[in-house]
Formats: sequence, structure tokens, C-alpha cells
Amino acid sequence: MSAIVGMGTALPTGRLTNKDLEATLDTTDEWIVERTGIRERRIAGPHDTTVSLATAAGAEAIADSGVDPTTIDLLILATLTPVQQLPASAVYVQDNLGLQCGAFDLGAACSGFVYGLVMANGLVETGGARAALVIGAEVLSDCVDPADRSTRILFGDGAAAAVIVPSAPGHGILGSDLGCDGSAAAILEIARDEKYVTMDGKEVFRRAVRACTQSATDAMDRAGVRAGEIDLFVPHQANTRIIDAIMERVGIDASKCAMNIADYGNTSAASIPLALAEAKPNDGDLVLLCGFGAGMTWASAVVRWGTGQ
Ligand code: UT7
Repeated sequence: MSAIVGMGTALPTGRLTNKDLEATLDTTDEWIVERTGIRERRIAGPHDTTVSLATAAGAEAIADSGVDPTTIDLLILATLTPVQQLPASAVYVQDNLGLQCGAFDLGAACSGFVYGLVMANGLVETGGARAALVIGAEVLSDCVDPADRSTRILFGDGAAAAVIVPSAPGHGILGSDLGCDGSAAAILEIARDEKYVTMDGKEVFRRAVRACTQSATDAMDRAGVRAGEIDLFVPHQANTRIIDAIMERVGIDASKCAMNIADYGNTSAASIPLALAEAKPNDGDLVLLCGFGAGMTWASAVVRWGTGQ
């Protein structure tokens, strides 16, 4: 098995509040808070990029883990906002961090971090990599239309990272579920040659609740745990109403939920690791990660926190 031993985060200093948005969009602070739970988002400045944020989060995670960087054999960067089409943004992060390892970008939108965690787990637990660095990083402010109130209010920028190492049996990633329904690709996309994201918000909402409820349940079944045993639920921070609906259906008490959507909005691949890093689980805690995103993709993982070593 494999476990997370260190985490890091990086957030741009620029803040965009609901009040700021009221000045340019036909919206209100009240509407945004009531319908989404978001109060403000962090926005990249002129020197912040997906690579710079990912590098900062990755460096902090490595330092936090105490792992010898020469043992990191794999770097996965989950992002939908790479700095350019070719090569992968992960290669710049690898170079910035001075790592000697395989590195690639992972495209599973908001599910990307959990997809990456499950990929890394597969390699680390079978000895294919001694340690792995999984990063979720986004500059989503580049791909929302400033005039579109249905998307601009939702998305923010940021990054978070985790270092994965082998763990004792019963610790680390106990069970997972990855899924996708490509027939729903058109409900959330940036079409070819288009700059901005388009979204059928209601349809995403409906499918997200259904997919996450099933995915979280399947991951818990595979891990052999019940909803009542979960100490910390870390959902994708997309909308408080989506999160509430999932918790109710899965049977998780709201007091167990990590929630930072009010401060950062939806940061896509960075959202789950950001919320996880800020929640600071204790050794032995049973943690459930669950996300959904464009594709539609979804992913869940059950983690017994700590390496047990
Ligand atoms: O990582 C995945 C990313 N995407 C998501 O997670 C999106 C999931 N969907 C959602 O979060 C919600 O569907 C939204 C927050 C996007 C929208 O909330 P909703 O409760 O589904 O609202 P709605 O689309 O049904 O719109 C209700 C009304 C409409 O007006 P009418 O037709 O009732 O007159 C909208 O035009 O609210 C209007 N509206 C707004 N009003 C003020 C839509 N956006 C706004 C806005 N401010 N920003």
C-alpha cells in the first residue's frame, strides 16, 4: 500500500470578492453565496502560472514529507490549464524542483488529483516508483469569460501537492474508484479553438451528485469501510449545495466535511488537495476523497492517514 506523507499548497495573493464581481456582472453577493457558498477566489498575478504555483506547492510538499528528493521517481501534474500545449507543464515543474524522474500531465479536470493519486499508488505499492509527487494546479482565471456570470463567479486559481511513499498494510490508500461518462463531454468544455469554458450548470450539478454518491460508496465498499466510520470527508469544492446533497445521500455527517470553497471557489484539480492540506488529518483518521469534473469524470479514494511505520 502507499500513503501521503507530506503536503504543500500555493495560492496567488490576488483576491476577487463577490462585491468586486457585482461591479462588472449582473449578479449579487447574496445570490453567489446562497447558490454556491463562494465568497471570494484567488486570482493569478502577472508572474503566477500553473508551473510556478505547482512548483511552489511541490517544493513545500517535499519539505513537509522529509523524503529524499532523489527517491521521487514519478511526478504527475493534474491540470486543465497547462502553460502550453507541448511539452507537458510537468516537465518544467520537474526541472524547477531538480527531480530526476518521469513526469507527465494528467487530464481529468477536477477529478485529476484523485486520478493521479490512484495512478501513483499503483506504481508505489508495486515498487515501480520509490516515491511519487502528485500535484493539482490551475490558473482557471485564464479560461473564464469575464462577461459570463454563470462561470466567472465559480472558478479560482491555486495549487496543492502530495508526496506518496510505501505504507504498512492497513494504512494509506485502502480503496478507490475511477469513472467517466464521455457521452456527457459537451456539458462542460472548452471547445477546440475556443478560449473560454462553457457549461450546462444544472446538468453538471445533477450528474455530479449522482456520480459522486455512487463513486464514494464503491470506494468505501472496496476499502471495507462504512460511511459512519469516515473521520474526514474531502469533496471537490464546486458548490456547497452539491456537497450537501452528496453527504446526505452517502450518509456522512456535515461536521466531518472539509470546506474551504468560501475562500477559494472551484480550483479544479487543486481543489481536493487544497482542502485536504488545510484540514490536516491526524494519523489513523479515515479520510474519503471524492471529486467530479469535465468528461464527465469522477474519482474517489479512501485513505487511512499515516504510513503506519
Ligand atoms: O467542477 C465542476 C464545475 N461546475 C460545477 O460544479 C457547476 C455545477 N452547477 C452549479 O453549481 C449551479 O448549477 C450554478 C451555480 C452554476 C447555477 O446555480 P442554479 O441554482 O443551478 O441556477 P440556475 O442556472 O438554475 O439559474 C437560476 C437563475 C436563472 O435566472 P432565471 O432563468 O430563473 O431568471 C439564471 O439566469 O439565476 C440566474 N443566474 C444568476 N443570477 C445572478 C445564473 N447565474 C447567476 C449569477 N448571478 N451569477
